Amino acid sequence: MRLYHIAVIPGDGIGKEVVPNALRVLNTLADAHGGFAFRFTEYPWSCDYYVKHGKMMPDDGLDILASFDAIFLGAIGNPKLVPDHISLWGLLLKIRREFEQTINLRPARYFKGLQSPLVHPNDFNLIVVRENSEGEYSEIGGRIHKGDDEIAIQNAIFTRKAAEGAMRFAFDLAKRRRGHVTSATKSNGIFHTMPFWDEVFKEVANDYPDVQTASYHIDALSAFFVTRPEIFDVVVASNLFGDILTDLGGAIMGSIGIAPSANINVNGKYPSMFEPVHGSAPDIYGQGIANPIGQIWSGKMMLDHLGETESGQKLMDVIEGVIADGIKTRDIGGAMTTKAVTDEICRRLKAL
Ligand code: NAD
Ligand code: IPM
Ligand code: MN
Repeated sequence: MRLYHIAVIPGDGIGKEVVPNALRVLNTLADAHGGFAFRFTEYPWSCDYYVKHGKMMPDDGLDILASFDAIFLGAIGNPKLVPDHISLWGLLLKIRREFEQTINLRPARYFKGLQSPLVHPNDFNLIVVRENSEGEYSEIGGRIHKGDDEIAIQNAIFTRKAAEGAMRFAFDLAKRRRGHVTSATKSNGIFHTMPFWDEVFKEVANDYPDVQTASYHIDALSAFFVTRPEIFDVVVASNLFGDILTDLGGAIMGSIGIAPSANINVNGKYPSMFEPVHGSAPDIYGQGIANPIGQIWSGKMMLDHLGETESGQKLMDVIEGVIADGIKTRDIGGAMTTKAVTDEICRRLKAL
């Protein structure tokens, strides 16, 4: 029996609703399969924790997490209690950085039975490889003066190592998919970092003669996500561009509530982390209506990462099945609760 030790951080808002439901799914799947099991250890690190302790996680939080096989996270953020940049840099972004989770994988695809806001959604199936450790997300800079003379400076950091790492990851992934990589750039308006990004992309592309490439400015690329998402296979993007593109990826699927993500530690030194693309959704928290599929699909990505790909595929088939059969929460046009959708997913997994 393979036993996986998973650290669980439900976090804030609907993270506290979708995570327990996704854990039920993962346990049901493991029971039904029989070959593996999970040992989940939950940590209450969140904005509530901050209010009590003055920090988002204990000082040895990262040491605690380091020994796990993976981290399963809901969402962080409750701006009523803690400013977002404090809560996110104190937990989510800290884990991504310190654990060298340099790649963030975020798929988006067409689902049968799911109403996309696109008029002609066609059969798109893309994955964004988001550079996850630097770029526009940096604490380099500062603020000076007050009032009319006030200045804020935020420096973007682009290293060859991280850009090339994300691009090589994208090309390797494309070789196992449809053999196409699109680079998200903005080298017309961003003077230094984006021409550099383009140069590195060309160099890496030279090493993959069998993979087709395209490069679009992020503004045009965003529009293509809406007008013809089927042209994309793998899209490689900087941290901020990848962030924005993947909420859009969720939206064109039908809801941000179903979009999953995997923060991958590629050097094997630390655990990887699996979390939906969405946030803590304070506007719907407490009503029990959050879509659990983003969290559950993130669980599928965790299964793949752990090597349980067969079970991962079974779970994906069940997710597709419930969507096709209209088992839906409100955000995708249904009226079912988080729990009712999860119950049906568990029922189908047991029946396999
Ligand atoms: P959000 O993703 O939380 O919500 C955006 C919209 O999508 C809201 O209308 C929300 O109701 C809806 N939505 C999101 N997830 C849903 C789901 N599972 N089912 C149904 N509807 C869903 O983004 P936001 O409002 O910009 O951010 C809210 C808080 O979450 C902020 O504190 C923000 O910083 C934080 N945040 C955290 C993460 C993370 O932890 N990974 C990601 C994004 C935002
Ligand atoms: C995401 C989120 C985070 C990000 C925020 C909460 C810092 O939007 O995971 O997409 O920008 O990476
Ligand atoms: Mn985001």
